Amino acid sequence: MQPQQKKGVKLEVEADENIIMLVNKNRIKQMLINLVDNAIKYNIENGTVHIRASKASGKTMISIRDTGIGISEKHHSRIFERFYRVDKGRSRNMGGTGLGLSIVKHIVNLYNGDIRVVSKAGQGTEFIIQLPL
Ligand SMILES: Nc1ncnc2c1ncn2[C@@H]1O[C@H](COP(=O)(O)OP(=O)(O)OP(=O)(O)O)[C@@H](O)[C@H]1O
Ligand SMILES: [Mg+2]
Repeated sequence: MQPQQKKGVKLEVEADENIIMLVNKNRIKQMLINLVDNAIKYNIENGTVHIRASKASGKTMISIRDTGIGISEKHHSRIFERFYRVDKGRSRNMGGTGLGLSIVKHIVNLYNGDIRVVSKAGQGTEFIIQLPL
């Protein structure tokens, strides 16, 4: 698909009220933009991206879940590395440099949080971030 074509991905947002985070707004924005960009880019046509933010036992939990192509388990330990791309040909066609997730990981680390990925090839992807309050 050419980048200028519409993909019809639906964005759903669900957030608890009164989530207060002592963070730099631009950093968190950059973190979310990278994750949502991936969730759209590696989605199927007319797929869905679900963003959820909630409070849980002294932590803020943010989840970005998509209905896209998924990531097979053997890549999970490497996708946060700089320049790492699962499908080099496909990613390059989409203009990907493989830096997005390394930036995300860096920001999560700055706030002593953690990030994990739940995904299987062909079955969508969920990134779950937990940040201490
Ligand atoms: N939501 C996702 N679904 C499927 N694969 C993903 C998803 N997010 C990341 N990936 C895979 O992980 C790789 C690394 O992601 P990352 O965001 O770091 O790089 P990129 O998207 O290729 O390039 P950039 O973010 O620099 O434009 C991607 O190339 C892609 O193969
Ligand atoms: Mg990316």
